[in-house]
Amino acid sequence: MKKDKTHIHWYPGHIAKAERKLKEQLSLVDAVVEVIDARLPLSSSYENITGLLGQKPRLILLNKSDLTDKNELKHWVSILEEKNNATVMVSDAKNSKDLNIIIKKLEELSEPRIQEIMKKGLLRRPARVMVVGMPNVGKSSIINKLTRSSKTKTGAKAGVTRQQQWVRINPKLELLDTPGIIPMKQDNQEAAMKLTFVNSVSENAYSNEIAANNLIEILAEKYPEQLKNYYQLEDSDISLENIAIRRNWIISGGKADIERTSVYVLRDFREGKIGKFILD
Ligand code: G4P
Repeated sequence: MKKDKTHIHWYPGHIAKAERKLKEQLSLVDAVVEVIDARLPLSSSYENITGLLGQKPRLILLNKSDLTDKNELKHWVSILEEKNNATVMVSDAKNSKDLNIIIKKLEELSEPRIQEIMKKGLLRRPARVMVVGMPNVGKSSIINKLTRSSKTKTGAKAGVTRQQQWVRINPKLELLDTPGIIPMKQDNQEAAMKLTFVNSVSENAYSNEIAANNLIEILAEKYPEQLKNYYQLEDSDISLENIAIRRNWIISGGKADIERTSVYVLRDFREGKIGKFILD
């Protein structure tokens, strides 16, 4: 049977397994960094994260800020702070040399929990934190930046599977060196579609043509000038077909090569070539 590619498909078994693993990892930490793709401040955040974290402090990182409009992003920082009652920071893990400010924030956020432990008469220990987020938002890049100056693996701790290692960032902070992957589950198809644009969805789950069509529709509405400039289109001819013709992506019979055009449009967007956008 041919798969219906107009919808994004999730696999309940995979999701349940990923959620279990995430819960197990979360039970080991004092605070969490949730990485969100700054181009999708709502669609790439996990609705149920507070359910998973309970009272645990969370730092929200709007990563890939280099691919967004910085002024528009400032508004989103305030919106997310208010909505989540959490600290929100902006990052660019690809270009920034260091992310020390994040380390300081994590120490600060974890301190009340460490104080609680000490009140019970226990010795002070480093706070333990981890990075979570949807696929491709930049979790590993952030972990690499945070651990760049410290490669001291502290070894497995009780309850931690052997693959998971803690890296001592400084005497006050340890970071789990593997990210927590937030399983891809979006009941909201509109948000799911946007996640395909930023490559957070497995390629098997959607059609390039449908994703590219949706992308240019949103760009035509929100950022028409950049879209038209980049592909040299007029108002009336924003379509994959016309992009194909402008670029001379033609197949036999003189027809537009829609598959190739779709792949290129998605790639141009992902690389920030069309412009710097926020799509929520
Ligand atoms: P993940 O662990 O959440 O799955 O994401 P990962 O760090 O692997 O990053 C996914 C892709 O996003 C990588 O690109 C990475 O370089 C890029 N990336 C991460 N953070 C940023 C950022 O702040 N800005 C930009 N522009 N890109 C970022 P890739 O193409 O898969 O690899 P590479 O070509 O960069 O090596």
